[in-house]
Amino acid sequence: MLEHLKDQPADKILMLMQAYREDPRADKIDLGVGVYKDPTGLTPVMRAVKAAEQRIWESQDSKAYTGLAGDPAYADAMVGLVLGDAVARDRVSAVATPGGTGAIRQALELIRMAAPEATVWLSAPTWPNHPSIIKYLGMKMAEYRYFDEATRGVDFGGMMSDLAGLKSGDVVLLHGCCHNPTGANLTGDQWDEVIAHLKAKGAVPLIDIAYQGFGDGLAADAAATRAVAGAVDECLIAASCSKNFGIYRERTGILMAIGDAARGKTTQGTLNFLNRQNYSFPPDHGARIVSTILNDAALRADWEAELEEVRNTMLGLRTQLADELRRLSNSDRFDFIAHHRGMFSRIGTTAEKVEKMRADSGIYMVSDSRMNIAGLNSETVPILARAIIDAGV
Ligand code: LMR
Repeated sequence: MLEHLKDQPADKILMLMQAYREDPRADKIDLGVGVYKDPTGLTPVMRAVKAAEQRIWESQDSKAYTGLAGDPAYADAMVGLVLGDAVARDRVSAVATPGGTGAIRQALELIRMAAPEATVWLSAPTWPNHPSIIKYLGMKMAEYRYFDEATRGVDFGGMMSDLAGLKSGDVVLLHGCCHNPTGANLTGDQWDEVIAHLKAKGAVPLIDIAYQGFGDGLAADAAATRAVAGAVDECLIAASCSKNFGIYRERTGILMAIGDAARGKTTQGTLNFLNRQNYSFPPDHGARIVSTILNDAALRADWEAELEEVRNTMLGLRTQLADELRRLSNSDRFDFIAHHRGMFSRIGTTAEKVEKMRADSGIYMVSDSRMNIAGLNSETVPILARAIIDAGV
């Protein structure tokens, strides 16, 4: 049997992780996989997470199964964090999933069950695992223009003109905030236009929100998701706690399906069924950390404060890098780095120049020129700026 297996296409982000690990240079700089690092290069366990784990350890007296949807307290806490009061709670069905990727996978399976002919529209570019999973599930897929290579901002005209091709029932995957891999995001007015267009076309938004709190703040980063969810009849939301709680390896995510409350029992039952088919009960430890934090005023305040420190560190690095590049290039053509939001910026250069930076300076960014801003610190920013200029970007 196993002799029939073929080599699978390598994931470029995971390949880069491996290459970085194998590089013996002491001064190498990792701007690859999307993991937050503090200025010393550590991905810390957040203070509130440690405190919540201690509480759980002290008080938990059973590790028996939760429900198929996971712990209801987690779902309630996450619906509150992501949606605020934008949508009546009885319109939201939700299941805990293994990470944000698990939520995306379950969302796509739900779409495939409910609307097998629907085309899923993806931004060009998007997180490479989006098209990979869609292809694996054998679903129809289309792209809409998103990134303007010249300005490194959003090509909104191109996006809307491509989305003119939506058919009723198609699904549009949107990044709720902190677009991965570009760092370029829609303005509030542009979101309003997208919402009106989706409604006019009868298309269903699928929002991937994996970086809430990394851009402009917890509420600001959820604003677009809330606006969409509050305006449309149906919407799917895949949220991740990996980054904003720093619990990457705990695999903590959630899928929310918003629709008519009268259909809620069937929608919830289908989400539970999908969990059962794929892995039965979702992981609980990370979810319990999250609900412990979100339901305790002191822990929540401490988590929010630390998340703000993380966000401001990244913003500071963005400003420093943009300033340094303005000085070295004697131009403002890299100012977009300060305007981008979230963990990533796509600097918009060729794979050859990315490779040159890796060979000459030990700088690892994804071949599409996405860099993880959090991989920098104040000492490595000037090194990166110099390498960018020397590579002729
Ligand atoms: C990334 O985009 O680097 C992260 O979402 C990690 C991953 O799984 O690819």
